Amino acid sequence: MNMSKKENLIVEGIRSWPWYRGFLKDSYSCLNKMSEQPANPFVLGNPVPFGGRGRRHVFAFSEEANKTVLAQPDIFRSGGQVIKGPKNSAHQRLRTGIIAMNGRKHRQHRKLMQPPFAKIAVATYVPTITRLIDQVLDRWDMDKPFDMYVETTKMANWIAAHILFDHDDFDRSTQTCELITKWIDLDVKARKLPVAFDITGTAGARLLRHAEVVEEAMHELINAKRKETEPGKDVLSILVHAAKVEDVRLTDVDLSAHAVILHAAAFVTTATALAWAMYLIAQNPKFAADLNDEIEANITNWPPDAAQVDSLPLLDGLIRESLRLLPPVHHVIRTATKDAELEGVEMRSGDRAVVSAFMTHRDPDIFSDPTKFDPTRWMVKKPGPFQFIPFSAGPRLCLGYQFVMLEMKLVVIRAMQRFKLNLVEGSHIDANVQLTLRPAEGLPMVVSKPDGQFSATQVTGNINDLVKNEQN
Ligand code: HEM
Repeated sequence: MNMSKKENLIVEGIRSWPWYRGFLKDSYSCLNKMSEQPANPFVLGNPVPFGGRGRRHVFAFSEEANKTVLAQPDIFRSGGQVIKGPKNSAHQRLRTGIIAMNGRKHRQHRKLMQPPFAKIAVATYVPTITRLIDQVLDRWDMDKPFDMYVETTKMANWIAAHILFDHDDFDRSTQTCELITKWIDLDVKARKLPVAFDITGTAGARLLRHAEVVEEAMHELINAKRKETEPGKDVLSILVHAAKVEDVRLTDVDLSAHAVILHAAAFVTTATALAWAMYLIAQNPKFAADLNDEIEANITNWPPDAAQVDSLPLLDGLIRESLRLLPPVHHVIRTATKDAELEGVEMRSGDRAVVSAFMTHRDPDIFSDPTKFDPTRWMVKKPGPFQFIPFSAGPRLCLGYQFVMLEMKLVVIRAMQRFKLNLVEGSHIDANVQLTLRPAEGLPMVVSKPDGQFSATQVTGNINDLVKNEQN
């Protein structure tokens, strides 16, 4: 990938069609291809060959561009993750959670939602998280291949459902997860149109009906929390009983929308990130041996406390390197609210900016030998906030990032204490953007009794181009 300074060029009319199609169908390959074009930033203009300038999409992958877009949320607004619905529909109400909020309202709601995600609060979740991790790991059969991505999804879902809603059994968590996952899947299907229309038999109508079911389930949860004589320790309970911020209190509509977005934001991303971390441990045996030593020497009690977990440099390096090489949120999109300039490109209100963690993390000016898996690089140099952006940056930085860093570290520690991790020989592993940058056809792994010996496995697939493991 050549990330040096290049000329701007606007691809529009019929020439833009394959690019727009590529961006919608396979954004991972499309963004890679863009970075190899002579134009920088890459600009897609009006796809209609007449009718004036039209809306532009500006794809800019430099640190400067990230800063321009992410540090100025009032100029570059977030549009939310799901399509619009009819006014007064359950879907429209559910899509107005924190990710779709902007301006003063976003700042107030973020402030209201922050307390359960502060580092000090997150540290108190350790006993619950560690108990749930063990319950999932108890289900892993030694020496029998299984799909690690299915397991990390289960784990992330269960932990999220417990911490967010206080669900204490698999069935309840699975139910909530299935409701929210189906809502997101239906949204993807309905997205061929910019708005979900209520026309019988269409994906849009199915989405709108399902949103009513999700909203009802969220109201039931919220009502149960309101009736608690003592507020619970789960996030939803904390939010239901939260004090006002600048005279703003969270309504039931806010609470339902935030709850759905929190669960959606929490579990798909974490499942993907955890799966890739397991992959990297399995395929880098020298590193795995060192990490094992670090864990054995420092984590002598279970559960450990959050400070102990935070003091392991190799573990920290693994998680950061995994999020650098394979960031679950591949790119984010923002809409300009007024005239602005992005890397020399003129933008008008309504134009879109595309910022990509994946592309930024592969810029050799920021990370030397960028495809190389090198967890020790994090001990030498700390990148700037707009250079390393798996959790975005600026005022919309992921609210759950302290929580998820702790959760991921605890999962890795426990998995290594209890198992040796290997890929299944000959597996085909492709990474692809399907909402997140995930193992497209799963991650076949096998676990065995830990014996202090580590070895990698031959696998095929685009993962071998994306990550240069230590033995390659
Ligand atoms: C490895 C796991 C995770 C990754 C990679 C990740 C990444 C991100 C990214 C890139 C954004 C910005 C999205 C955008 O601006 O369009 C974001 C926002 C957000 N994330 Fe996460 N996230 C993770 C886990 C979590 C968890 C566990 C939670 C909550 C329990 C969470 C809650 C949120 C919320 C509420 C926002 C919206 C913040 C705002 O708009 O002010 N995330 N996350």
